Amino acid sequence: MQIAVVGAGYVGLVISLGFSKMGNKVICIDKNSRIINTLKKGIPTIYENGLAEMLIDCQLNRNLCFANDLKDAVEKTDIIFIVVNTPTKSNWETDLSQIYEVIDELSKIIESYKIIVIKSTVPVGTQKCIEKRLIKNGLSRQKFDIVSNPEFLREGTALEDFLHGDRFVIGSDSEKAKKVMKKLYSSFGIEIVFTTPETAELIKYSSNAFLATKISFINEIANLCNKVGANIDTIAYSMGLDKRISPEFLKAGIGFGGACLPKDIKSLAKVGDRYGCDLDIVKSVIAVNEKQKTIPVKILLDKYNDLKGKNITILGLAYKPNTDDIREAPSLYIIKELLKRGAIINCYDPGVSSDIKRIYPQITYCDDIYTSLTGSFCAIICTEWNEISALELNQVKNNMKIPMIIDGRNTLDLEKVKNSGITYYSIGRG
Ligand code: UGA
Repeated sequence: MQIAVVGAGYVGLVISLGFSKMGNKVICIDKNSRIINTLKKGIPTIYENGLAEMLIDCQLNRNLCFANDLKDAVEKTDIIFIVVNTPTKSNWETDLSQIYEVIDELSKIIESYKIIVIKSTVPVGTQKCIEKRLIKNGLSRQKFDIVSNPEFLREGTALEDFLHGDRFVIGSDSEKAKKVMKKLYSSFGIEIVFTTPETAELIKYSSNAFLATKISFINEIANLCNKVGANIDTIAYSMGLDKRISPEFLKAGIGFGGACLPKDIKSLAKVGDRYGCDLDIVKSVIAVNEKQKTIPVKILLDKYNDLKGKNITILGLAYKPNTDDIREAPSLYIIKELLKRGAIINCYDPGVSSDIKRIYPQITYCDDIYTSLTGSFCAIICTEWNEISALELNQVKNNMKIPMIIDGRNTLDLEKVKNSGITYYSIGRG
């Protein structure tokens, strides 16, 4: 099939590669010429497992090309995926301006029937607003159908998740569009759920909110474990053996970050407010998560009272391992609070991006994990990269001024830590 993907960001690029790998012809468009020119050269613009090889393969097979010109791409294709950013505003509402910008452009250039697929995460009711806007812009109703097709990709395993995920969700009022989407997705061999636009839009938010709920729930229990001397790892493991609960997303820590969970759960709470339906659980999940990231600084203040001039090491900056993404990462909050109190910060992250260097130019970015620990009063683990989990504890102890670790991701081996002579704090491991 002939597909246009508007937006060459994280999801746009992954689905462009996935669809072309499945034998479709894809034109991926972005108005950012720097991104498009980089991708044309076969250079990845994001850090993602298996992406570099697939980018070259798909371009060599002539199934994938990158372009700036939306009009040309729309003329050549039948299905237009919109995959632009939908960030959260400070009042937790979703900023749909990038979607509407594309919709307004499409209104001017669509000449024959197209299926417009909304892949960006948008609040419930958006598909209907888009339909009204296209008509108001003068586009004949016969020339388009709209489909909501949310994504469930995780950073780090996005290609795998797209090609071998758990489900595709197709929300549309048009039988014709549903038939085309079925044809597009049936070759993946994955269950397809067909439903209404509103249900599809809400499936995405409910899924992310439920994952976030599991995390905040286990974090609350972990905090209680610290008080009563119980072990959260064993609790989560035992809970996970119950098939109704599942072991996934029960890892306690300093809270969830990233471009999706925090944004989507706030947006869902806001939608609830708008419809006069107070989403109490959802709001509590956000509150617990905010509290969770304050734990390391509280432990430090209990111990040292004054952090002025003290060297503190941050191990891991990304919001999760195997990505260079720092959006909403708990590390950002912790660094801000430590700097406010006059601490001197060294950090180490194997995938560190230049974004954080722009945010915090005043801290030291080390290339070596053990160098980052030299002379430190405490190391705070914010991301469970393999290299951090495998720390050689003797060397850690020798390098640090005061051997103390706050393991914000419960990633170090508890038995090894017990015999290491390091003062160790965790999130609910007793
Ligand atoms: C999340 C969802 O998992 C995807 O299904 C969804 O498609 C995506 O958002 C999206 O909406 O685009 P992602 O943001 O890549 O994916 O990251 P996750 O693997 O979900 O992790 C999110 C955060 O939760 C990380 O900070 C991670 O450290 C934390 N987490 C995760 C925990 O603290 N405990 C856990 O048990 C699992």
